[in-house]
Amino acid sequence: MAKVQRNAFVCQNCGAVSTKWSGKCTGCGEWNTIVEEASNAPPPGSGLNKGSKGRVIPLEGLKGEHDEAPRLATGLSELDRVTGGGIVPGSALLIGGEPGIGKSTLLLQLSAAIAMRGGSAVYFSGEEAAAQVRLRAERLGLADAKVGFAAETNLADILATLADGPAPDLIVIDSIQTLWADALDSAPGTVSQVRAATQSLIRYAKLAGSALLLVGHVTKDGQIAGPKVIEHMVDTVLYFEGDQGHTFRILRAVKNRFGPTDEIGVFEMGQNGLAEVTNPSELFLGDRDSKAPGAAVFAGIEGTRPLLVEMQALVAPSSLGTPRRAVVGWDSSRLSMLLAVLDARCGVSFGQADVYLNIAGGLRITAPAADLAAAAALLSSLSNVALPNDEIYFGEISLSGAVRPTAHMATRLKEAQKLGFKRAVIPAAGEIETKSLGIEIRRISHLRELAERMGACQGRPGRAVKDS
Ligand code: TYD
Ligand code: MG
Repeated sequence: MAKVQRNAFVCQNCGAVSTKWSGKCTGCGEWNTIVEEASNAPPPGSGLNKGSKGRVIPLEGLKGEHDEAPRLATGLSELDRVTGGGIVPGSALLIGGEPGIGKSTLLLQLSAAIAMRGGSAVYFSGEEAAAQVRLRAERLGLADAKVGFAAETNLADILATLADGPAPDLIVIDSIQTLWADALDSAPGTVSQVRAATQSLIRYAKLAGSALLLVGHVTKDGQIAGPKVIEHMVDTVLYFEGDQGHTFRILRAVKNRFGPTDEIGVFEMGQNGLAEVTNPSELFLGDRDSKAPGAAVFAGIEGTRPLLVEMQALVAPSSLGTPRRAVVGWDSSRLSMLLAVLDARCGVSFGQADVYLNIAGGLRITAPAADLAAAAALLSSLSNVALPNDEIYFGEISLSGAVRPTAHMATRLKEAQKLGFKRAVIPAAGEIETKSLGIEIRRISHLRELAERMGACQGRPGRAVKDS
């Protein structure tokens, strides 16, 4: 009997396979994501049932000889920091980010940096023509770097090129969605194409010991497009994020088999491409208008590095039945919680006011320790009293209004002192490992203490904070 080649219908969002087309994926619930793809799966019953005998593998313990993963120092210290000390040869990294955020620029600079340190780097671009990339390299002053470049999207050609000659230290694919394997019928960017291309490239990189860097497109809600399998296949997933309206960019690891995932790398996009920012606090506090009410400086920690940022609040009388609450860079449900705690536990009502909260510079903050700084900014704007401009805040606020201790207090205080801050409002509990930091520390155990100090309780008129 002739074999019937049956096509599969694959969801381009989650990778779920079904036998017939439908408008909505039953796996992830997305609409219009199902595409017909040629099925390359072996017919059922071909694998285990065949009766091929396996070989017995000797099992070993977890203890034993192992080598520390070697690292390819890239020359970009912020990238080294995020990857945990440099890229591991033979590993695969996926870097996602919105269009125009600077992924291609970063990878071009990275390739050039590696080439200039005597390594070998090849860059395959499927998105831009050679002339475009050359123009950019020229503008960035990298045209002399010995980077092998080709504008190519055919997977077989790329693999043949790589196999011809010594294995490079770094392979850049910009982007994985543009590649196509002609062995497969489906269009570039479909799940099976992306999966096949990633698989072949990773296999090559592992065998040859080259570091593989893949650029991945993101969907409209900021996730790397394509099935999650790609994220599972690679060793490291990085996101390059930032705001088009601001110049700085943040590189964040969300998965890393060879290092921590909480470190961030900070870059600034300028005339000459991406520049590394080694002291991000200075950048984020750069153009501070310290006399305005509603601004409080939060002493945060990103990974192992302290990061001071300004939180800005605006509390304005509302003409709407349901006042507006708008947040940029922070969690809006966290703001609602904070407003409820201020109302219920401290007697400060924001019920008739529009409330806006913004993290200066376009940074996104998720740490709960930012609660106290956000509360200080809100109270300051409500009572129209500027906070002392040499004061920092950190501490998590619980639903009871209690200010809870946070980790790394000494590191936060030291960074604040380094940048010239003289006072700190911090949680009452928790040890500070280092004494005599040269900072006047006020420890509070309840949010009410801050509200009372700002004169915000029960609509009492504001008074100056300086003399308190
Ligand atoms: P690009 O690396 O092409 O982004 P992606 O690959 O993530 O889509 O970055 C393009 C943007 O960066 C573009 O909007 C212009 C800006 N840019 C600069 O501001 N300065 C520069 O030196 C370069 C090369 C780009
Ligand atoms: Mg690009």
